[in-house]
Amino acid sequence: MSTSENTLLSSGNAQVIALAKMISETADKIIKEYTAAGSSIPLLDSTDTGPFDSPSNIPSGLGRDLQIMEAACAQLNIMVNSPAHIIATYEEPACLQLVTRAKIADFLLDKPEGLHVTEIADKTSLDSGKVGRILRLLATKHCFKEVKPDVFANNRLSLQLVSTNPVSGLVGHLTDEVFKAGAHLSETLQDPKSGLLHSPEGAPFNKAHGVALFDFYETRLAQAMVGWGAVTGKSRISKAYPWDSVPQNSVICDIGGGNGHVSRELAKNFSNIRVIIQDIPTVITQAKQYWNEEYPEAVQEQRVEFIPIDFFKDTPAPGCQFYYLRHVLHDWPNAECIKILTNIRKVMTPTSRLLIDELVLQHAVRDQSIRENIDQAPEPLLANYGMGRLRLYEQDLNMMIIFNSKERTLQEFINLGEQTGFKYEKVWDAGTTGIIEFSII
Ligand SMILES: C[S@@+](CC[C@H](N)C(=O)[O-])C[C@H]1O[C@@H](n2cnc3c(N)ncnc32)[C@H](O)[C@@H]1O
Repeated sequence: MSTSENTLLSSGNAQVIALAKMISETADKIIKEYTAAGSSIPLLDSTDTGPFDSPSNIPSGLGRDLQIMEAACAQLNIMVNSPAHIIATYEEPACLQLVTRAKIADFLLDKPEGLHVTEIADKTSLDSGKVGRILRLLATKHCFKEVKPDVFANNRLSLQLVSTNPVSGLVGHLTDEVFKAGAHLSETLQDPKSGLLHSPEGAPFNKAHGVALFDFYETRLAQAMVGWGAVTGKSRISKAYPWDSVPQNSVICDIGGGNGHVSRELAKNFSNIRVIIQDIPTVITQAKQYWNEEYPEAVQEQRVEFIPIDFFKDTPAPGCQFYYLRHVLHDWPNAECIKILTNIRKVMTPTSRLLIDELVLQHAVRDQSIRENIDQAPEPLLANYGMGRLRLYEQDLNMMIIFNSKERTLQEFINLGEQTGFKYEKVWDAGTTGIIEFSII
């Protein structure tokens, strides 16, 4: 955008017009993508699926347009509405927690005509008046639809809350134990002792629940991580890195890999790749079960190995081409990250690579010193795509609340790498996340 256009955008009226134009032009581009895929955008009230429902199927150009649309709509709305009206919003997570726990979306499956709140109340042992009010708030935000007064049915959004969908595990986790922990954020940060701690024990989560997250609800966490993969489009990992050109039988060591659902994507898509999953013993047991159910051929062909590790004390399996850390470092403050990276560095060779797959944060203001591959949004949007990438900044707060840890900027990852004997090579765009590649110094 030219300097003269930038100057014009310093007026509120000009910004509103620029945002409205951006929304209209971006809508055209999005419709063209649907048309090219032989489809059209499904109506909100329908339960139809669309070609881009899974973030993994969204091409990167469309992904950027969707973020621009989300950011521009939100920014325009905030500009034209009363600040008090915008700021005073709450209660939606509590409603999502209730409907997820009570499995209301499950009871509405195959009932396009909907169920009356008295029938929903019978099935869930809830009060009909109260459950109706909760569903109405959610329907007002387009999750569920009210088909007749007090009769509710599923729609595209509420189908994500069906208990067999891993996204419902994520919603349950976020709106229950994490939401309760969030209520302790202010008192933890304002306490002169705990507010200055950077250890996991000082996290609001521990204050709320008396234990750390990994000692809490292990099974729900595993489902929530699969749900997080669905929300963030984990399959983009297959397209984000040139896996097809890595040598035959290259081994990826998926450290803190959970049940290995991400490296399973790679093993399925690239026959030249073998996988080692490393995690704490209880999770390794879950991982074996998961692979035996989801990809038994890989287990039989010995293309996957399961090796327990405590990554603070042990070095990972030697001799691997790739050491892959997805959503592991964000669980830990810098001191713990340095221990993990130091242990990995010990087994790496000049040809092996460290791949850190994480959200990569940006400042909300334009930054001239920004590294290559980090895309800043067009004006008048905020440089970090504003509401189009809000999840990244919400997730940063989640990390503060749960672990006293953080999401990081690219520079913060580079600093961690440089402190532990790594050289930054490049960041690969994997949609919601970036894959930051390091070699050894
Ligand atoms: C946020 S999960 C990420 C899982 C997986 N990489 C993914 O993207 O779905 C972090 C993982 O680190 C594992 N972990 C935590 N402490 C560990 C330790 N000391 N040694 C090895 N793994 C650990 C947890 O069990 C969990 O599976």
